[in-house]
Amino acid sequence: MADPTVVISDAPVEEAARQVVAAVDDALGRRSTARLAVAGGSAARALGYVRRVLHDGDRWARVALTWVDERCVAFDDPDSNRGGAYRDGHLDDVDPPGDELALVRDGEAPPAAVARVADALAARFDNALDVTLLGMGPDGHIASLFPGRRFDDSSIVTHVANSPKPPPDRLSLTRPLLATATRHVLLATGEGKRAALERLLDGDRALPAAGLDGLVIVTDLTDLGARS
Ligand code: 6PG
Repeated sequence: MADPTVVISDAPVEEAARQVVAAVDDALGRRSTARLAVAGGSAARALGYVRRVLHDGDRWARVALTWVDERCVAFDDPDSNRGGAYRDGHLDDVDPPGDELALVRDGEAPPAAVARVADALAARFDNALDVTLLGMGPDGHIASLFPGRRFDDSSIVTHVANSPKPPPDRLSLTRPLLATATRHVLLATGEGKRAALERLLDGDRALPAAGLDGLVIVTDLTDLGARS
């Protein structure tokens, strides 16, 4: 298990996007499609840069996109990760990726969503990812995997009920699926993320990002890199 790499940047969103593009290009050197899973929040902002760069050379048409987690709300709800990415212009209906798998559809109950997504991940993603673009909460969560909770490692996608971060119902990819990716780009900026990043760099196994091979942390915390 390799230690995480820390990349300090004063333009962390763009740097995270650059790292993702490089990893997608690497995957496209080996496969016909690159399977990319993206978080909501600040990570979604990097997705717009990724889309625009990959559009050149038609590489975006070879990306199979999904989400590392989604809130169980309608697309139009302000809490929808996917809805927010489209509303904020990071994704665009007129410039779709080659494939996009939504974790939650309007009106879909969580168990039905889990079953549909598990089937789609098998059929369209071969139950694996190439690249993840992650965010991390101040508590150290990635996707909707919260430290202190038992991680469901028996399936590749799970319903998270009673999430400590609202809204309470979510779908999340689990660590077994996330760990299939060979590159994880974790965008974490601001002092609020420092404690969680330090725990991660210390290898705190309570954090779901601990132990992910190929982890690149992109941050604006200038003194963090001295630790790695
Ligand atoms: C969610 C997100 C979540 C997010 C982190 C970090 O739906 O809650 O996917 O996992 O990535 O909370 O968010 P920020 O980068 O916006 O702080």
